[in-house]
Order: sequence, then C-alpha cells, then structure tokens
Amino acid sequence: MKDKFIPWTKPNFWGNEIEYVTDALKSTWISGGEYLERMESGFSKLLEQKHVLAVSNGTTAIHLAYLGLGLKPGDEVIVPGFAFMAAANIAIHMGLRPVFAEIDPDTWCLSAEELPKYISTKTKAIIPIHTYGNVCAMDEIMEIAEVHKIAVIEDCAESLFSKYKGRESGTIGELSTFSLQATKMITTGEGGLVVTSSDELKKRMMLYRSHGMDRGKKFYWHELPGHNFRLTNFQAAIGVAQLEQKDAILTERYRVNEEYKKYLLDKDGITMQKVNSDVDAVIWAIALKLDSKVFPQGRDKLIEQLKSVGIETRPGFYASSILEIYEPHSLPVCEDISKNVISVPTFSTLTNEDIGYICEQLLKLRK
Ligand SMILES: Cc1ncc(COP(=O)(O)O)c(C=O)c1O
Repeated sequence: MKDKFIPWTKPNFWGNEIEYVTDALKSTWISGGEYLERMESGFSKLLEQKHVLAVSNGTTAIHLAYLGLGLKPGDEVIVPGFAFMAAANIAIHMGLRPVFAEIDPDTWCLSAEELPKYISTKTKAIIPIHTYGNVCAMDEIMEIAEVHKIAVIEDCAESLFSKYKGRESGTIGELSTFSLQATKMITTGEGGLVVTSSDELKKRMMLYRSHGMDRGKKFYWHELPGHNFRLTNFQAAIGVAQLEQKDAILTERYRVNEEYKKYLLDKDGITMQKVNSDVDAVIWAIALKLDSKVFPQGRDKLIEQLKSVGIETRPGFYASSILEIYEPHSLPVCEDISKNVISVPTFSTLTNEDIGYICEQLLKLRK
C-alpha cells in the first residue's frame, strides 16, 4: 500500500496522437495548418454548430468571446460564485465588473431562480458555467436573458459531451467556450474553442484572434486592435486524434461515474452533485459534498488523510466571496459548497479496482 498513488487526473493518448503530431511537424505548417482546420470542422460537426474557432486555451476563449460581443469597461457580466474563476478574471482584465451570483444548492451550477437579482442596466452577459460537467438550467437562463436582452456565453470548459435536453452543452447560448487543457475530456495540451452560430460574431472573433488582421486583404493591416489567441497546428493534431476516440472516452467516463455511484450514492455523510433528469452529464470531476457531522475532521484534513493512503484529491473551488481579489460580497450557498466539497480522482483510465479502493478509504474515514 505504501507505494500506491492514484492521481486526481491523468490524460490519455488513445490512438493516432504521435503519428499526427509527427505529420504536422513534418508538414512545416507549425502555426496554422490542416490539422487546425480538421479539428475545427470536427468539433463543428460534433456540436452541430456552424463556427468553431480553435484558440490557445479556455481562458483566451472567454476573452475572445467578450471581445466578440464588444464588451466595454464598466459593463457587468454575471458569473457564478462557485466555479473556476477564468470568466471573472478575464472580466477584470477587460475592465468589466464581474457580478457573482448564487448557485443551486443541489446542482452547484448558476441558480436560474436567483439570477434576476443580479441583473442591472449595465449587465451585458451572463456566463453559466457547467461545473464539473453538469449543465445549468439553460431554458430558464435563456428566458431571463432574452427578456433583458443580455447575451449568454456558456462556459463549457468542464462539460464537453454533456447534453441538456438532448442538445450538446455549448449550443444554446449565443457563444460558448471550451478548454482543451490537460485534465479535460479532450486535450491538446493547452487549448480551447469558441463556438457560435452567428456569422457576425465569428467574423469579429476571427479578427480579434489574430491581431485584427485579415490576411485575405492586406498583410499587416490591423482592422481592430486584436490579440494573438491562436492554437498551433501540431497541438490541433493531438486534438484531431483525440476526437477520433470520442466513443471510447465516453464509454470510460460513464463507467467511472457509474462505478463511483455504486459505492457512494446515498451513503451517510456524502452527497453527490445532483444531475437533473434533463441533463445527460459526462462528469469531468466526481465531486462530493461532505456532512461535517459525519466527517468532523473537515474537508481539508480529509484531503491529507487520503493523501497519506496514496489518493490525490482536490478541494471544491473557493467561493468568489472568500477570495480577497474580488469586491466584498456574500454568497452563503457558494460558501457552504466551497467549504465542504471534495473531488476525487476522475479520468478515463482509472480502474474499477482503484475506484473501489478510493471509496473504501473514504468511507472508512467517516465518524
Ligand atoms: C470552468 C472553466 N472555465 C475556464 C477554464 C480555463 O481553461 P484553460 O485552463 O484552458 O485556460 C477552466 C479551467 O481549466 C475551467 O474549469
């Protein structure tokens, strides 16, 4: 047992990654190239969305989406107070004001019920973040956004392949963003995507992605003050190979999820993230809410205890209201989830035997 180590996550290379990367390098098309086009059209087909733009990561994807919408300093964007904070941080970089909103106490996603409270005349975008692979209540969120004429950007960094009412996550808002970072369902090392069905948004984002230059017109002519958000061709080669393995990835992810459920569902002291019946979630990270009466040692001590038996876990995200870099505010549900959630190893090649071991150790540490 001494040498046992189960990481929280581990990427997997399934098939043609090395061959395609080698091919991309040999082609000498390093920055742009054929694999980028293949990856973008592959995702476009998968998501049944007209435009997919590959970018350097999931954070620049959000930046590009904000630029595409023409957000200006002083504009407000609503983000959930419990989630990975990329959307809030980029808002600050652009001089926007992130307004943090409560989450649903069961699904841990942006609460549609609470959402209207955070809308002001300055609100220009709502960012539902599909945390851990769950999907927010998109119908309700879209209805509110439509009434107030506010754009919706779905942050799908953690929800690639998850579906809401039969539709892929990321196909409901005006725009959506994905991350292809090492821990994600499909990885290109670092990488990301912006997805939209709008020709207008696509056109603006294409310009912003590459310094505002339209190479089809004149070299070095900047039509707008763009950025460099480009992904490389050899990274896209990894993405193309991974995308070919979608079915295998899904099979293994569902297996891992079901196996954890066998051990942990309805266990005293443990609540799994609730997935509503209209969501088919491909869980990116299995997360559990701990009852402090049953785990009196607390979440952080539990992380140490599990580490000592070779299991790497992660705490829940820190609630925005706990983080000192943001304007002071209070979000009791986010804070409660933040303090009591732990996420356990979740990746495609995690064996059933290891899941059994993780659950056995976890359950043993209850009072
Ligand atoms: C919800 C969410 N949004 C955005 C990002 C940022 O993505 P990246 O790490 O690719 O920049 C992440 C993190 O990986 C995330 O979990």
